[in-house]
Amino acid sequence: MNTLVGKDIETAIKWLLQDEVIAIPTETVYGLAGNALQESALLKIFKAKNRPYFNPLIIHTKDWESIHQYVLAVPEDADRLAAIFSPGPITFLLPRNQFIPDLVTSGSDKVAIRIPAHPITLQLLQQLPFPLAAPSANIFGYVSPTKVSHVVAGLEGIIPMILDGGDCKIGLESTIVDFENDQVLIRRIGGLSVEKIESVLGKKVQMRISPNDHPVAPGMLKSHYATLTTLLYGDLSILLEKHKDKKVALIEFGQPLHANVFWRINLSVQANLDEAAATLFAAMRQADNSGAAIILAQVLPAQGLGLAINDRLTKAAHQL
Ligand code: TXA
Ligand code: MG
Repeated sequence: MNTLVGKDIETAIKWLLQDEVIAIPTETVYGLAGNALQESALLKIFKAKNRPYFNPLIIHTKDWESIHQYVLAVPEDADRLAAIFSPGPITFLLPRNQFIPDLVTSGSDKVAIRIPAHPITLQLLQQLPFPLAAPSANIFGYVSPTKVSHVVAGLEGIIPMILDGGDCKIGLESTIVDFENDQVLIRRIGGLSVEKIESVLGKKVQMRISPNDHPVAPGMLKSHYATLTTLLYGDLSILLEKHKDKKVALIEFGQPLHANVFWRINLSVQANLDEAAATLFAAMRQADNSGAAIILAQVLPAQGLGLAINDRLTKAAHQL
């Protein structure tokens, strides 16, 4: 199959109306999108990225009002968060109605919904008669794509189109929030910080990171977000000492270490966590392609987007 890379929304609509799947830009990461209400399109999403069916999909709508077509109820806290953060890097788990196919939720009675903050994809959603189901547009288990070239590397020849929206500004997947009784639960930390969520709610949230993000079934990749090259994550000076005789790729943050290594990248020399989030996945891919024998990555400060960056690096890290 020929994969067209382009900015033409009409062409994207044409493919989606035919139940094909295409890559779309969002502010978090590129998504692999198809008609969320059409089983044949959903099956193509799972097939294209080699994703197991028990891993549910996020659906994307054009605005917050539209979610009422797909959910049974909306908690007050969800409305308050959406009023401030949607469109944006936050996904809501809400009780689904009968219009959401089982394949979207893997049989769960809640559906994950978000409104992406990307002008091209919002325009696309406004012109479509259905919402888009879209996981990250990477082959299952590999690092999420934040640039068109990342999507090309994984899915060229497999999908008909990549809608080009430039580089993803946030660079981490959305933060997933769930609602139980009067509590707000964080199921995945991501591109919206927990501090910002708590400041709008005026109360603490509970961390309940979903095991769905950690595939454990036999024969599957042992980790998510993994590079092919072994990645170790921890105190860089200790790791460097231990692996000093190898070709090392270094992923660092802030003040550079005095070390002579094969390859290195700094996520943010200014030690800015938002900048580090936006560069993380590209840095991991570059490190993976650098020819190094091992990737060593630094632990970032556990605040703001640093928490989500540390989460992704932990999941990418190989246990030696
Ligand atoms: O930023 C994002 O969220 C990106 C862009 C493309 O929107 N999407 C994304 O999708 O990261 P994906 O498929 O890579 O991750 C979705 C995760 C699943 O792995 C699962 O943990 C959770 O969302 N999820 C989806 N539906 C769920 C449900 N019904 N119940 C619990 N968790 C769910
Ligand atoms: Mg993903």
